[in-house]
Amino acid sequence: MCGNKRPETMERITTPGLAQKFIDEQTEALKAQVGDGKVLLALSGGVDSSVTAALLIRAIGKNLVAVHVNHGLLRKGEPEQVIDVFRNQMNATLIYVDAVDRFLDKLAGVADPEQKRKIIGAEFIKVFEEEAKKLDDIHFLAQGTIYPDILESGPVKAHHNVGGLPEEMNMELVEPVKFLYKDEVRVVGTQLGLPDSMVFRQPFPGPGLGVRCVGAITRDRLEALREADAIVREEIAKLEPVPWQYFAVIPDIKSTGIKDGKRYMGWPVVIRAIMTVDAVTAKAVEIPFDMLCRIRDRVVKIPGVNRVLWDYTDKPVSTIEWE
Ligand code: XMP
Repeated sequence: MCGNKRPETMERITTPGLAQKFIDEQTEALKAQVGDGKVLLALSGGVDSSVTAALLIRAIGKNLVAVHVNHGLLRKGEPEQVIDVFRNQMNATLIYVDAVDRFLDKLAGVADPEQKRKIIGAEFIKVFEEEAKKLDDIHFLAQGTIYPDILESGPVKAHHNVGGLPEEMNMELVEPVKFLYKDEVRVVGTQLGLPDSMVFRQPFPGPGLGVRCVGAITRDRLEALREADAIVREEIAKLEPVPWQYFAVIPDIKSTGIKDGKRYMGWPVVIRAIMTVDAVTAKAVEIPFDMLCRIRDRVVKIPGVNRVLWDYTDKPVSTIEWE
């Protein structure tokens, strides 16, 4: 597919049958575009890159080289799921890069949110380039660009990926889902056999837990956040309808708590759940008190945490994220 405008004749993909038709057409188109060539893809585990990967695996099998960079700011279980789905179940060529120490060392002591974002984006590109250099003979770069990315910000998925991907790599782009809207990507993902927890997962910012571990990230506070976030997600996913985004935040403050009759300083965990259409405005979701109590009772068992707060502010005046 060439150009950056969705063909007017293209049908909305709303059913398994239409998804299968798209998959079959794309499989042929991808084979025609790359032939026996190898294709490199940064696979975050998000919906768009996962569906892109699954399409390419169907079309060219092992010639897709997917690189999953663990920057240490992913949610609990995410790297494991990417490895399980793509390496174990789909038999893909998957390079897993444990870059946790690199990222956290670079971020140590950095409190400014935009500086944190820049560091994460720049380091991501560096790690990805280093991995690409180790591989010979790759002339194609796949990206999970979807149609709203093109409508909002031009052809490169720069705002969405962590910092976008290196332009100077001089590779031909492969973007099989670039004319799809999010709901269509999901229908295609399900038809390709990806698990619901991947296809229907909530939006997650590129800098990940980095912008929810407010201020300068420390490893202990980040670990507490990762645990708290897993609990908050597990409980709030039981709400009907499931909120658009729901997560935990750990501000960089401490307050007093009591343990074994002694006062000590611990972190608060903030619970946030919102409903929105486009993330431009958002409404806080009402969380029943018994659910709040269940979350509280589980979260306060995390080492270092001694208080739980509920952020029920709308956007505006708040933003969805805390940074
Ligand atoms: P805010 O906090 O501005 O967030 O109300 C609006 C939406 O954007 C997401 N978000 C990001 N996504 N990189 C991303 O890929 C980022 O740096 C980033 N910051 C915010 C946020 O999760 C929400 O869905």
